[in-house]
Amino acid sequence: DWTPAAFVQETIEKIRNQVGDKKVVMALSGGVDSTVAAELIHKAIGKNLYCVFVDNGLLRKDEYATVLDSYKHMGLNVKGVNAQELFYGELKGVSDPETKRKIIGRLFIEVFQQESTQLQDISFLGQGTIYPDVIESVSVNGPSVTIKSHHNVGGLPEKMKMGLVEPLRFLFKDEVRRVGREIGISEVFLGRHPFPGPGLAIRILGDITPDKVAMLQEADAIYIDGLRDAGLYDKVWQAGTILLPVQSVGVMGDERTYEFTIALRAVTSTDGMTADWAHLPYEFLAKMSNDIINRVKGINRVVYDISSKPPATIEWE
Ligand code: XMP
Repeated sequence: DWTPAAFVQETIEKIRNQVGDKKVVMALSGGVDSTVAAELIHKAIGKNLYCVFVDNGLLRKDEYATVLDSYKHMGLNVKGVNAQELFYGELKGVSDPETKRKIIGRLFIEVFQQESTQLQDISFLGQGTIYPDVIESVSVNGPSVTIKSHHNVGGLPEKMKMGLVEPLRFLFKDEVRRVGREIGISEVFLGRHPFPGPGLAIRILGDITPDKVAMLQEADAIYIDGLRDAGLYDKVWQAGTILLPVQSVGVMGDERTYEFTIALRAVTSTDGMTADWAHLPYEFLAKMSNDIINRVKGINRVVYDISSKPPATIEWE
């Protein structure tokens, strides 16, 4: 019978046997999987685990500082790397979704490799790969059809010739959460919605500018905080805001406005492969619309996405 406690004990032992007194480097994303994997490796080898957390400028509002701080509190040996300018620079003027994804994936690997080569005697790469990632990389992004080129910390192995430490490779998401709970990882991490590797870049349709990122971060924070306050956050699989490249006419006081549109997205799902749009209460949507339009400069219209997957996808790009 599978139990989190037995899994933790066995896994720590396995990692110690595999790694010995060598060193492991690992990229953290702030998500459930990489956090639980890192904490397991940390329990096994302590300070011989070196973590890197990259700020690509495409994270949620305040996320970089908050998450980095939590990692430090967990006792992880983590280096934060501010690479915002690099990402904004290379993404400047780029509107095509796949091109954005490729640029972000490439830069991420470059930054991570650069950090890793500064460390001495690293023998292993730690990764938070879980079982669905293993299957998905075979079926969804198979050689013939690529719907979206997925980018996450799992894109690294071919590039870096190191042994892999993947403690979660045979676990499903709910098992990862149970393991996380067992080793004392905060519910703030464990209950988080999934967030795409390319971050807010694929929620800004069209080209990306720091101003648009700031606008989207504000709207997103209002929406996510709103979901939490209304007790709805845990009822949906994932939620976020999308900045549309559409301006429309509005009126504020007796002034004409011509500003951007935010789409709200929330879905229910069990695995992200299929999803239904979440039937959020009208009163909640009304409050979000008011709050976003009143508080986010540059936005004068909010719409709600009522498309399911398939045929739509969860993200817009
Ligand atoms: P789609 O938009 O394909 O998204 O319906 C399904 C789930 O995957 C997430 N997603 C990503 N996750 N790297 C990731 O780690 C990516 O490049 C990526 N693209 C989409 C998306 O947020 C949803 O949970």
